[in-house]
Amino acid sequence: MVRGLTILALLLTPISGALAAADLEKGKRLHDKQCVSCHIERYGGDGSQMYLRRDRIIHDRVALGQRVAACNAMTNAGWFPEDEENVAAWLAQRYYKFK
Ligand code: HEC
Repeated sequence: MVRGLTILALLLTPISGALAAADLEKGKRLHDKQCVSCHIERYGGDGSQMYLRRDRIIHDRVALGQRVAACNAMTNAGWFPEDEENVAAWLAQRYYKFK
């Protein structure tokens, strides 16, 4: 799993422009602060059903990155691209587990 993520991070580096490996802990913190409440409002619990629901709209890592960037803009969270990358990496590892 960790090795898979590392490879994924290496593959995505040219796309995202991120130089450092994703900081998953930071991603989780940012997500919990700026994003989760709205998803909880919709699905209850810890909001994770947003990412785990059967008809979820995100199916690959590139789309996830784009969605996180769009949500960042929508919420005026003011994240830097590396913050978006940290959140996307954390969501991918914790929930989406793309094959
Ligand atoms: C104002 C409420 C709100 C906030 C704040 C919000 N979201 Fe969302 N989010 C939604 C809704 C509603 C959907 C479902 C959209 C749909 O079904 O078309 C969604 C869907 C998503 C999805 C796709 C889920 C899937 O189906 O796979 C991701 C990823 C996501 N949000 C990430 C974030 C991130 C990251 C943030 C913080 C920057 C954030 N959201 C903040 C309301 C919100």
